[in-house]
Amino acid sequence: MGKTPLREKGDIAGENDPLKQPQDDIGSSEALDLVSTQKQTRVTHPRGGSWLEIAGMTDAEFTRFSRFIHDQCGITLPPAKKAMLASRLQKRLRALGLTSYAQYYDYVFRPPGNPDECTKMIDAVTTNRTEFFREPHHFEYLRSQALPSLLKHRRPGTGQTIRLWSAGCSSGEEPYSLAITMAAFISERPGLEFSILATDLSATMIAMGQRAVYGEEKIRSVPFQLRKNYVMRGVGSQKGYYRIVPELRRRVQFKRLNLMDPNLDTGSVMDIVFCRNVIIYFDRETQQRLFKKIFDRLASGGFLFIGHAETLDGINNNFVRVAPTIYRKPAERSAVTPHRL
Ligand SMILES: C[S@@+](CC[C@H](N)C(=O)[O-])C[C@H]1O[C@@H](n2cnc3c(N)ncnc32)[C@H](O)[C@@H]1O
Repeated sequence: MGKTPLREKGDIAGENDPLKQPQDDIGSSEALDLVSTQKQTRVTHPRGGSWLEIAGMTDAEFTRFSRFIHDQCGITLPPAKKAMLASRLQKRLRALGLTSYAQYYDYVFRPPGNPDECTKMIDAVTTNRTEFFREPHHFEYLRSQALPSLLKHRRPGTGQTIRLWSAGCSSGEEPYSLAITMAAFISERPGLEFSILATDLSATMIAMGQRAVYGEEKIRSVPFQLRKNYVMRGVGSQKGYYRIVPELRRRVQFKRLNLMDPNLDTGSVMDIVFCRNVIIYFDRETQQRLFKKIFDRLASGGFLFIGHAETLDGINNNFVRVAPTIYRKPAERSAVTPHRL
């Protein structure tokens, strides 16, 4: 990428014209209605007609769904979350014209099973809130501490590609914030490259990340100078929408990946892992297993960033804490050389 400026202006349409696709999901990752199911079964549709009557979720139904969600995604839903789960799944019931959670359970799980609907169900229950440069001190630490330290320990001529992984990337704001930070960093360091793996359980989030189109509200948290260099502005009918420049989109590989997967195929060993605001929904045992897998997939001397409400305290692990919510895999005495897993 060298010193070539990445700035582009004007029309963001072009290849595949993402803005011709339905717009209602752009930036609406938190568009989740948390009203209790019981209430919604009795209201009238705002545009006339009435809602399909849906029977309230029983405790037994809640247990069946929450057990599956825990086993499949690691997400723990205590009984107090019953109304929230019912509300989130209600959209699927309405879309399918079903009137009870028992019918929906059957629809998803009756042999041979329904993988497509299972994916949609998981999409409905995950919380995808995210933003560009969320917890900005992490990006500052990456730029000023982590990257210089990683490079200092590199043997000359080896490891000229820094590999980053956004684990639980949601709709792409986190991996693109990393890409923007990295692009600005390497613009002063000829020969240095980077690649980013962005993974999430939710197929919808992965698709949004690949489109890389965001509304004005979202783009506002990208620092002005970086926005000028790495974000394209829509014009005409696309006014108010923004897209990450192709040079950065090419460096971010999106992939659907369940962090519960025992094999957790990341392809390469990683130098930097951002796994933020994901484990907050996992129980201790699931967290323990996940951090062991992340540790194994990090190069020696590599860094792990977690969310501000998260901690590795009480988890048996070999990470060294280097700053609040930032951890490091101890460096081996020999220089770090990336290799395939
Ligand atoms: C709250 S968002 C956090 C996004 C971003 N990391 C951030 O901090 O802004 C959590 C993301 O983790 C994903 N997630 C939850 N459980 C997962 C799992 N078992 N495997 C992969 N991703 C998961 C969700 O789909 C969601 O997009």
